[in-house]
Order: sequence, then structure tokens, then C-alpha cells
Amino acid sequence: MRYFLLCTALVFCITGCSEKAESTVIKDDTWWKEGIVYQIYPRSFKDTDGDGVGDLKGIIEELDYIQSLGVTMVWLNPIYSSPNADNGYDISDYRSIMEEFGTMEDFDAMLKGMHDRGIRFIMDVVVNHSSDQHEWFLQSRSSRDNPYRDYYHWWPAEKGKPPYRYSLFDAAGDAWKYDSITDAYYLHYFSQQQPDLKWENPKVRQEVYDLMKFWAEKGVDGFRLDAFQFAAKDTTYPEFPDDLEQNFIQYYAMQPGLHDYLREMNQEVFSKYDVMSVAEGAGRNFEEAHELVDADRKELNMAYAFEGVDIAKPEGYSLAHFKEVFSRWDQEFAEKGWLSIFLANHDQARLVSRFGSDDPRFRAASAKLLNTFILSMRGTPYCYYGDELGMTNIGFDSISLYRDIAALNGYEKVKLAGGDLETYMANLKFSSRDNGRTPMQWDTTLNAGFSSGTPWLPVNENYKTVNVAVEKEDPSSVLNHFKAMVSLRKESPALVYGAYTLLLPEHEKIYAYTREWEGQKMLVILNFSNDIVTLPVPVEEELEDLLLNNLPQVYYKDRVFSLEPWQALVFTLGPLQE
Ligand code: GLC
Repeated sequence: MRYFLLCTALVFCITGCSEKAESTVIKDDTWWKEGIVYQIYPRSFKDTDGDGVGDLKGIIEELDYIQSLGVTMVWLNPIYSSPNADNGYDISDYRSIMEEFGTMEDFDAMLKGMHDRGIRFIMDVVVNHSSDQHEWFLQSRSSRDNPYRDYYHWWPAEKGKPPYRYSLFDAAGDAWKYDSITDAYYLHYFSQQQPDLKWENPKVRQEVYDLMKFWAEKGVDGFRLDAFQFAAKDTTYPEFPDDLEQNFIQYYAMQPGLHDYLREMNQEVFSKYDVMSVAEGAGRNFEEAHELVDADRKELNMAYAFEGVDIAKPEGYSLAHFKEVFSRWDQEFAEKGWLSIFLANHDQARLVSRFGSDDPRFRAASAKLLNTFILSMRGTPYCYYGDELGMTNIGFDSISLYRDIAALNGYEKVKLAGGDLETYMANLKFSSRDNGRTPMQWDTTLNAGFSSGTPWLPVNENYKTVNVAVEKEDPSSVLNHFKAMVSLRKESPALVYGAYTLLLPEHEKIYAYTREWEGQKMLVILNFSNDIVTLPVPVEEELEDLLLNNLPQVYYKDRVFSLEPWQALVFTLGPLQE
């Protein structure tokens, strides 16, 4: 099943040709398809120096834990130098490590530690924008004729006010910020501290490829491009319609030029190393998603689409809709392209609280079910730190407890507009990004073993029962289920590559599907509800082996199941029943 594609870089020698090709890159497009990503929010994983902020040494200390999960790739949110307006997504130096996180020596040791354990490392690259403290921006804003002026988008004030642009993070909502130093406005789709880089400028692009090569030379195994679809802007600056906030992506992302940039990046960086590539977002429709990731396009390796993760709402969600969305994406990519599968990340609240149940009776079962889902779909699974334990939303009631710039500025914005703060706070409690960023729960000691200091974000009170130490010892824990499911995926090509067939599409409580690959057929049945559901076997084959069950028992007689709330079962299927 594994195959290698050998790309030999042609080397033209003028004088003194050596026999050896300069670089021979073995491209293997199976490792990132067969792999399982574990995403770590480094601020919140483990703090070793007592400042309340996680660090690289903390990750090094827990490498054996990460390995014990069975995951094969780690994606870390940004670890570069940053003033931390947006927790590292505002980078002031792309070639150094954030002081709070450690040093370059720590980075090298961490990378080696991962590689020694057979784990690959994915670097987050934030190049739609930099920090306003980056040397490029300091230069750029200093005078209109500075050589770095054209690294960012500027609008001279004598042209009048620039056409309105909506900022995702700004309290005032305007993405143009007036800067008196040069009497001009600069563009920031995110916060004022995150000015957008001007990708039309070839010098900017070359800077980016150089910094990516710097990390590739160090041995990183892949890149996740943050907010990259915004890199290509409509720089004719037309007036956009008023309903902009609702149709933000429509006008702001995926403008002409984006594919050229990606192809260039591929040629300059990805093609020269054995690295995988993924960008946040997957275009505005399937066609655009394919254009980003189909192998013959030579752009990115896999799509990271939000339609599925966006379904959960404070008022609940419809399972029929959830199934329809995941099935449609699978079908669309069945023949060509490759998907990421995820239900959580650092920009989302906790998966159990959004898609499962926080009710103590169902928390563990629903967490196991959701992990079963992520690890049994076609595509590369992305598992977010703490979800292997079933960590839940912390749900702050007061705005003073939030740390996320999006939450804080959003609050100011609603307040300024005289809006409904009560509804805003209720929504935040359910969906704030801080919910998904609370410290990792290691054990029952002070601060869940995360830090001896005061954690930058409070620890969830359920840490006394939901933590690694306790769950390790409990064979029926969410953690042990996660490990079992990871092993099952790793030994089942059907779960990685197999054809996916949705069963019972209209059922409001049950999500059932088969995965089939080279004569092996598996059945996954998931009860997405708090109720017992009686269900005839939804396939015609014999049930062969029960490979995985998230509960101690299964009630089954005469080809009829009585599924417990949030029960998840995985079977192999035999021949058609007589
Ligand atoms: C991406 C990141 C998010 C960040 C934003 C601005 O959406 O995932 O965390 O705040 O870009 O960089």
C-alpha cells in the first residue's frame, strides 16, 4: 500500500560538477494520509518554570505521553517571538522562539525528541499578517519611501477615507487603522496589532519562502498556513456591499493570485522537502477546495474545511444536517483530493460541550463517541489536546475572566453599538475560544499539574476526575478508549482509505456508516443522543467481530440493537447473512 514517488531535483553544473545530486527528495504521500495529528496549544499544555504559561520544556517532558497516545504528528500553534496580542498569531520574529516558551535549543531538543519517537512535527505559519512589532512593519510605517513600505497595505489619507473593510477582531469593526506617522491607513483583517502583509509584493513572498526554508532545514515535517485564504486581496479596493459581516469570506478570501502564490510556495518550499501542507479553510465551494488540494495542482496536500465544525450552535444542532455535511464532503473527495477531519481546534470551544454532552452521565460516553467518529472517517484526523480526556468548556460568566482578544474586542463592539450584552455573554459561554484553551489536566494536584504558578487561564474545576493520571489507570476511561481507537485506525486501512457509505441518512439519533477497502468492510454505529435507541442491524452482512465499544456492554438480539445513550460500536462485517 505504501509507495514512493521519487523526485530528483535536476542539478545543472557549470564548473566542478560533483557526482552527487544536490537534493533528492523522497516524497511519500501516504504518511500524512495514514497519520493522526495531535494539536497542542503550547500556552496551555505544560508549564515547567512556574510563570503560568506552558512552554517547550513542558512538551519535552510529556513526549512519552504524546507517544503513548499513538498519534503520529504534532501540530503546535505558533511558538515564534510575539507580543501576544493574539497568543502568538502576531509574530514579531519568524526565526526565534517566544521567550515565554523557551529557546531555540529547547525547540531543537523538542523536535529531536519527537523524531526519536517517530512523531512528525507540523509548524504553524502565520503569514497573512505579521505583528505590528515586526521589524518589517516598524520600517514600513516609519516613512512613505521606506523600502519596506510595500510590505503592507497602505492607503494615503489624502485620497480620503478608504473603502470600508470589516475587521474580524477589531472593537470598532474597521479594518483600516489610521497611522499619523505617515498620515495613512493600514489594513488589518484581524486586530490592529496584526497588519496584513502585501502578498502582491514578490519581496514579501520571497521573505516567507526563506523563513519556511529556515524551518524546513531544521527538520520540521509540515506547515499549516494560518488564515492564508485572506492573503490574496482585492487590491482594486472596490466598495463592498453592506451585508459584509455575513458574507465575509465571499469578498475577502480566495481572490485572484492565491493559487499563484501557493504554486510558487510549493515550488520554492514544499517540493524541496518531505513536508506536508495544509491551510486553514477550504475555499468557498467544492470547486475551490479541489483547486487548493488536488495533487496535480501542486499547491497544498489537504483541505481543512469548516462546514462540519461550524454546525454546533448554542441551541443545539441537527444530526441529519451533521451527517449530510460530512457525507457530502466525503463524497466530493472520494476520487480526488484529501480532507482533514476535525471537530475542535484552538479557535473552537470543547468538542464534548458542543457536539456531545457535558451532563456527567453522558460526558465520558459522548467524548468517546466523538473520538470514534473523528478516527473512523476518511481523511487525516486532527485531535485537539485534552479531547482525548473528554475535557469540557469552562464557561466563564464574567467578561473579566476571558483572555481571548476576539472575545474582549467583540464585547467592546457590542457595548459600543448598544447591543444585547446578555446574549453576547451567553454565546461566549458556549462558543468562546478560551473554552478550548484552558490548561491541560494532568493530575489531581494543584492546577491539575499544569503549573506551580498561577495559570494564565483558569483550570476547569472538573480536573479532579478528568485528568491523565486518573484516566490512565481506568480501563474504561475516555483516554484508554482514545488509545484503542487510534490503534484500531492504524491497523485498519479500511478506516483510512476505505469507501464510505452513509446508512440511515434521515435517522435523527443514529449516525451509521460502513468503510470498505480491499475486501475488508467495517460498520460504525454511533448513537448521538441521550436516549436508548432500538435499531435493526442497518446492513445485510453478518456482524463478525465487535472491534470497539465505548460502553461495558452491548444489547443485541435477533439482529436488533438496543443502543445505550452515546454508545459507539465498530464491527467488522462478514458475508451476507443467509
Ligand atoms: C487563524 C487562527 C486564529 C487566529 C487568526 C489570526 O484563524 O487559527 O487563532 O486568531 O488566524 O491569526
